Amino acid sequence: MSITIRVRNNGPYFISADDAPHVRIEDAEGNVLAPPPGRGIVLCRCGMSARKPFCDSTHKEGFSGKLCPPVVPPSQA
Ligand code: FES
Repeated sequence: MSITIRVRNNGPYFISADDAPHVRIEDAEGNVLAPPPGRGIVLCRCGMSARKPFCDSTHKEGFSGKLCPPVVPPSQA
């Protein structure tokens, strides 16, 4: 099974509702972290969320998340 993590422009990492049931998120001690209810899993990329590792939309206050690695077009991935 392949799980896709989409990097949103200037925003979080997003895992779709279809892929979310196949993802387990743990803290450093191995405790399971339950994502907030909703559609999919949204993980903070900006570091400003008050509920890390999940996004709380604080990135909208001015996070710029330009991607640095080379991007492979979807047709070649
Ligand atoms: S990416 Fe949304 S709060 Fe950090």
